[in-house]
Amino acid sequence: MNQLNDVQRISMGGKKTIHVRVNGKIIEKEVPIRMLLVDFLREELGLTGTHVGCSVEGRCGACTIALNGENVKSCLQLAVQADGTNIMTVEGLGTVESLHPIQEGFWEKHGLQCGFCTPGMMISAYNLLKVNPHPSTDEIREALVGNLCRCTGYEHIIEAVKYAADTLASMSKEERDKLLTY
Ligand code: FES
Ligand code: FES
Repeated sequence: MNQLNDVQRISMGGKKTIHVRVNGKIIEKEVPIRMLLVDFLREELGLTGTHVGCSVEGRCGACTIALNGENVKSCLQLAVQADGTNIMTVEGLGTVESLHPIQEGFWEKHGLQCGFCTPGMMISAYNLLKVNPHPSTDEIREALVGNLCRCTGYEHIIEAVKYAADTLASMSKEERDKLLTY
């Protein structure tokens, strides 16, 4: 008998087992075919740091995660589409005891206001600093273009990213690589 393809499965509303690496942990889980990736992260894995800000229309960037090194709006993907990928959410950045330089930057430079956009901003900053360790103000603005802040405190957020860039630049290559790999 022919195997169902994903389109046929979606139309039938079935389930599928996916394998993903999330914040360094290998996960195997059966998910409803129609489940959004953001719902998988929040509801199935309890990673509620990834926010939903615009009723899943892809406009706000609050749900941004790093997927195979790219910024991805997790409200625009199905969980099954993430099968076999490597994901980092804001929970993978650092801990309360040991903040990542990006988190430290948001704290030190008051980049956190209501905090709703912050996880997505941090992930976009992370993906920027991975490829561009010394970004200019314009490059930071460009990297954050998909992340909206309803508190409109963009200046503090840009300062936070600069702080993170400077902190990372002051570290050894080994330390830096460790902090920018997931
Ligand atoms: S919740 Fe995904 S872009 Fe707004
Ligand atoms: S800090 Fe409030 S939405 Fe950005």
